[in-house]
Amino acid sequence: MDNGIIKNTFGLKVTAAQLLEYHSEEELIGFIAAGKVKTPYLHVGGGCNLLFMHERYEGTVLHSQIKGMEVTAENDSEVFIRVGAGEVWDDFVDYCVSQGWYGAENLSLIPGEVGASAVQNIGAYGVEVKDLITSVETIDNKGQKRVFQQSECAYAYRDSVFKRPEMKIYFVTYVNFKLSKVVQFKLDYGTIRKELADAPSVTLPLVRQTIIKIRQSKLPDPQVLGNAGSFFTNPIVTREKWQSLLAQYPNMPYYEVDEQHVKIPAGWMIEQAGWKGKALGHAAVYDKQALILVNLGNATGADIVALSEAVCRDVVSQFGIEIHPEVNFIE
Ligand code: EPU
Repeated sequence: MDNGIIKNTFGLKVTAAQLLEYHSEEELIGFIAAGKVKTPYLHVGGGCNLLFMHERYEGTVLHSQIKGMEVTAENDSEVFIRVGAGEVWDDFVDYCVSQGWYGAENLSLIPGEVGASAVQNIGAYGVEVKDLITSVETIDNKGQKRVFQQSECAYAYRDSVFKRPEMKIYFVTYVNFKLSKVVQFKLDYGTIRKELADAPSVTLPLVRQTIIKIRQSKLPDPQVLGNAGSFFTNPIVTREKWQSLLAQYPNMPYYEVDEQHVKIPAGWMIEQAGWKGKALGHAAVYDKQALILVNLGNATGADIVALSEAVCRDVVSQFGIEIHPEVNFIE
């Protein structure tokens, strides 16, 4: 939030009527008690998953700067860590890897902060953050503390209870995680195992480096090209729908979900629809990963919305499947 500009990885120049940053639970409670947290308000993390549709947000933007990573308990096989919502997600992953704790390494280099990770249920390479979370600590908009156990968070693919409109009254302050001290890797997604084939032994730092290498080869650096990671979620379709598409596109990639459902990569459909690398105004579909929309420089929120609508339209007309933004649109 430098010079009143709200941090957002799309690189959009957006200001707000009021910006409030807090460094502790007490400071947040103080803002609330002083009547500073007025509606409308928006609670942001690193701004990695936000698309501001206008150049000014007519409300209060809240941002946690609560830091700290503290071991709260451990035994021979597990360690429990309490992490401030304002910690950078990848700093946490790096810390876990340096300590020899397993579980977070596949989530290396995901942009954003720890608080938002628990809201969004970030995921990559076969792991979701819900697999590591034990509870989420919050303060509500009246200043009351409430702790949500993992089972109360309604975690699903890129979804949680905290994304429901009526739950926006809860501000995440700390997230509690459980990691393993016992060797356990998840290497079955995509090309990870192939990348590791020549390594004399698989170690935590090596898995982290491999994930970082794969991500850097596919995903644009927001410092260079504004973006918010995957713009759409991968749609989940019935097996019937999948079978009929497979007859038409025998090489179509897919992931098993359950007995009735299959997930189809939206990036693949967008590429098939001819959008990969194509621009519309100042926004474009990234040329190395079609699930990502990028700001070519000087794009407005409206430019990115227009591109996303055009892409959705073409995917529906070619595949009969609706794709939905993963990115949160802010009015
Ligand atoms: N594909 C294409 N063309 C493309 C992009 C993808 O054909 O332009 C195909 C790939 O060849 C592959 C399949 O689609 O067969 C899946 O691609 P990839 O492994 O790159 O992953 P994704 O489904 O596009 C998801 C997550 C990413 C995460 C990766 C790896 C979502 C919305 N996105 O992308 O998460 O890094 O898997 O696990 O689920 C994010 O959420 O911001 C994000 C980057």
